[in-house]
Amino acid sequence: MPNERAASAASAPVGIFDSGLGGLSVLRAVRAILPHERLIYVADSLHAPYGERDDDFIVDRTMAIGEWLVKQGAKALVVACNTATAQSIAIVRERLPIPLVGVEPGVKPAAAVSKSRVVGVLATAVTLRSARFQSLLDRYAGDCRFICQAGHGLVQAVERCDTSSPALMALLESYLAPMLDAGADTLVLGCTHYPFLDRAIRDIAGERLRIVDTSVAIARQLDRLLDAHALKNVTAPPDSLPRFCSTADGESQRQLAAALLQLDAKVEHVDIPSRRTRLAEPDIV
Ligand code: DGL
Repeated sequence: MPNERAASAASAPVGIFDSGLGGLSVLRAVRAILPHERLIYVADSLHAPYGERDDDFIVDRTMAIGEWLVKQGAKALVVACNTATAQSIAIVRERLPIPLVGVEPGVKPAAAVSKSRVVGVLATAVTLRSARFQSLLDRYAGDCRFICQAGHGLVQAVERCDTSSPALMALLESYLAPMLDAGADTLVLGCTHYPFLDRAIRDIAGERLRIVDTSVAIARQLDRLLDAHALKNVTAPPDSLPRFCSTADGESQRQLAAALLQLDAKVEHVDIPSRRTRLAEPDIV
């Protein structure tokens, strides 16, 4: 009987959540490293971008979506959003009854690989001003100079499935040029939406910037966490389609998953009310 209980806990899905479509870059890595896991992905696209919201809003949404995923039977949660992790991971970890993994900008790996000792960081304004990010710099920047740039407009572009328009390229170039001029040889993608701009970044910077994206490290961390809690699913058939959910209409999610992940799956619309979204707008600060 205890074995059956353990097997049924292990066969439960892993919840992955982001303010929008960025967490799909983490989902891609999780599927590659843990092909037997069933996945439920929630994009809170109705309320993206979080990077322009106040701290209380981000905590409120992260808790509501975490609780919703627990009700769907999730055995573990990946907060696949740097902004939500920066503002809410401690509170959510304390309140949710399942183990969870957060994401944070790869300051440590970037400082380890940079030869010029100049590193660029692209992340949301909320992530960059968070105490968590400052503490990462204090601990790991060492003798590296970090040039931090808020990627205003980039999350919105990916949410529209725009990964290459002339307007997007001009915006990206305006963010990258000062880093390149200062001699940066490494770029930290501190937002899970930005790996979808990988090709655009390469078109602008060529081989001059080594890109640090932590999605594979997050998937490995999830692997260790599931092992530690005896929750790893080893019996299910590999590569099942994730259950995709969106608080918006889901059309961009379907398109991005098909175009960039080659996953042809329908997207369910879900309503996940929370204290702040029940209040009248305006809630953008
Ligand atoms: N993918 C989120 C992150 O990693 C984007 C946040 C936002 O919606 O602004 O930070």
